[in-house]
Amino acid sequence: MLPAVALADFLASLDEISASARQSFNAAPDADSVEAARIEWLGAKGGRLRTVQKMLGQVDKADKPAAGKRFNEVKAEVEAALASAQQRVAADRSAPDQTVAIDPTVPGQPLTIGHLHPITQTIEHMKEILGRLGFTSVEGPEIEDVWHNFEALNIPLSHPARDPLDNFYLSTAEKTGPQQTGSSSDGSPLLLRSQTSTVQIRVMENRPPPVRIISLGRVYRPDTADATHYPMFHQIEGLLIDRQVTMADLKSVLRLFCESYFGGDVHIRFRPSFFPFTEPSVEVDMNWQEGWMEMGGAGMVDPNVLRAVGYDPEEVTGFAFGLGVERICMRQHGITDIRALYENDVQFLHQF
Ligand code: FA5
Repeated sequence: MLPAVALADFLASLDEISASARQSFNAAPDADSVEAARIEWLGAKGGRLRTVQKMLGQVDKADKPAAGKRFNEVKAEVEAALASAQQRVAADRSAPDQTVAIDPTVPGQPLTIGHLHPITQTIEHMKEILGRLGFTSVEGPEIEDVWHNFEALNIPLSHPARDPLDNFYLSTAEKTGPQQTGSSSDGSPLLLRSQTSTVQIRVMENRPPPVRIISLGRVYRPDTADATHYPMFHQIEGLLIDRQVTMADLKSVLRLFCESYFGGDVHIRFRPSFFPFTEPSVEVDMNWQEGWMEMGGAGMVDPNVLRAVGYDPEEVTGFAFGLGVERICMRQHGITDIRALYENDVQFLHQF
């Protein structure tokens, strides 16, 4: 007759088997090791659990239910560890080859991301500065009618600024004669706007004074490209209409803008000039390479323009300015040829 086995010893053996078996299934690196562990712990002949099961007959009759219950629990635990090890090694087999060594300490390769074009950066910077001075940004169309590009701006029919040689008028599909131009709903010709001053008119037509706006966008002129001219360029238009606005306000705003933009490292000067839509008018220059570069035009809005949009020149006055965005960008970055901004040379553009 076999010696009796105390319940406590039996349960201790089961606990040891449960822990060791689970550990060896978890550590088995491949299918062969899992199978070897299965035979060791769950094998029908000589498996460790089988051996312990045989000891169950030697446990005291009164303790058998508790011993049997615990045996079944441990068997289920070990079988579950076997199933999960089998699943794991099967998944490893279907996973791609992971033999390539990975060194997690190697620094990552930085992503090359683009950035805004210097002209766009200039535009954003201008909007930000003039926004702080109370100017709201508005937009206008690039295809314009002659009313907004010329007539309402006090540029009469006979004015040379309307000359087809100085503007991009739009042709219709049927080119049957010299008069065949794109036209607005009232039949008047359409053109690519030659200045952002068109937006002044569009804004004043649609809202009563006071007005304090800027408008930034592309304008088109058949100018020959050289170091400071391009046939398509950008302008910033500013317009302020209110009671008792004076030329001193205009000069202060332009000076404040330039100092804010260039950080004090700038001299600007005002030269008497003429624009049909401002009176008096000035040309604004900034110092550039031992000399001066024209930055834009400006002046007090002509009473004829105020009348054309239904404002009363006895009630309100105002100033307007139109500056070349490319030239301001050029001065900021020391770019000596405007054409470089439009060559799309990534090495050049990366500098800004
Ligand atoms: C005008 O366009 C007026 N509308 C400006 C204005 C607005 C005057 C409001 C009064 C009141 P002008 O043709 O001078 O003016 O052009 C203004 C600026 O645009 C120039 O000083 C220059 O900086 C820039 N500019 C003109 N032509 C070109 C060009 N082809 N390429 C690059 N920039 C140019």
